[in-house]
Amino acid sequence: MMQDNAIAVLHTDDDRGSDVHRLQRDCNAEIACEDNLKFMRRLPDESMSLIVTSPPYNIGKAYEKRTSQDKYVEDQAACIAEAVRLLAPKGSICWQVGNHIDSGEIFPLDILLYPLFKNHGLQLRNRIVWTFGHGLHCQKRFSGRHETILWFTKSEDYTFNLDPVRIPSKYPNKKHFKGPNKGELSSNPLGKNPSDVWDIPNVKSNHVEKTDHPCQFPIGLVERLVLALTNEGESVLDPYLGVGSSAIAALKHGRHAYGCDLDRAYIDIAWRRIHELRAGTLRTRPMNKPVYDPKA
Ligand SMILES: C[S@@+](CC[C@H](N)C(=O)[O-])C[C@H]1O[C@@H](n2cnc3c(N)ncnc32)[C@H](O)[C@@H]1O
Repeated sequence: MMQDNAIAVLHTDDDRGSDVHRLQRDCNAEIACEDNLKFMRRLPDESMSLIVTSPPYNIGKAYEKRTSQDKYVEDQAACIAEAVRLLAPKGSICWQVGNHIDSGEIFPLDILLYPLFKNHGLQLRNRIVWTFGHGLHCQKRFSGRHETILWFTKSEDYTFNLDPVRIPSKYPNKKHFKGPNKGELSSNPLGKNPSDVWDIPNVKSNHVEKTDHPCQFPIGLVERLVLALTNEGESVLDPYLGVGSSAIAALKHGRHAYGCDLDRAYIDIAWRRIHELRAGTLRTRPMNKPVYDPKA
């Protein structure tokens, strides 16, 4: 499937003053500048182990047109229905969202969208809280510093690899002080479960991964999902790909990457990042790097 459908587009790096012509192709990536329903309809049933994405929030960003809440939910329902069709039996869907805001009132999108997934019989495994330090300073409500990831599976038999995403324990040398295991280490030497609250810096102007996209994923956030919820050689799809952060996370760990975006400029950046990844020159923030603490 991957080879046959591979998209070959000659790309000129004019914008960066280079005369290098580069093929927009990678043997493990199928990426297109296309509407997601059209893109997804070409893919076979149950072919994706992970569908991870962050859709527009209907808040009037550069890449979206504000619409009514009903129309927004209807559009999301169509995309989610296709995602469910593509989901492998042991696979996962991770929908990362924040708030829709209207006249100062907030509408948490995970609350609005949760029933759409339940209508397809999916099961919620975690509602992960992604917290970050930077954002708007609100005057009439508390400043928002978190968004969520709804992680759904198709069944009770799903892939979950905890070891590759363990994080360092707070007290790694702590030992049992009584009982049959007295004197032995009490915590897992591989580290602890990262929990369902993830403190990962969002991609603002001084972040090493920043591109021209206003709302890109930190790659480390997607890496955690890729490593925990898929195995090597499996396929990962992002139907709202933006500048390709999900594809980078997938390719970095030996998975196949699928994705599309309506905006040609974002797709061009995604390809540039993929080529930089392959060349070993892409700068990314390490997945489990602790958040900078000026007091530490
Ligand atoms: C929140 S951004 C995703 C950013 C992405 N996570 C990243 O790391 O770059 C949503 C993206 O969806 C794209 N988009 C909106 N409607 C779309 C559609 N119908 N099909 C494909 N892409 C779409 C927008 O152009 C935008 O780049």
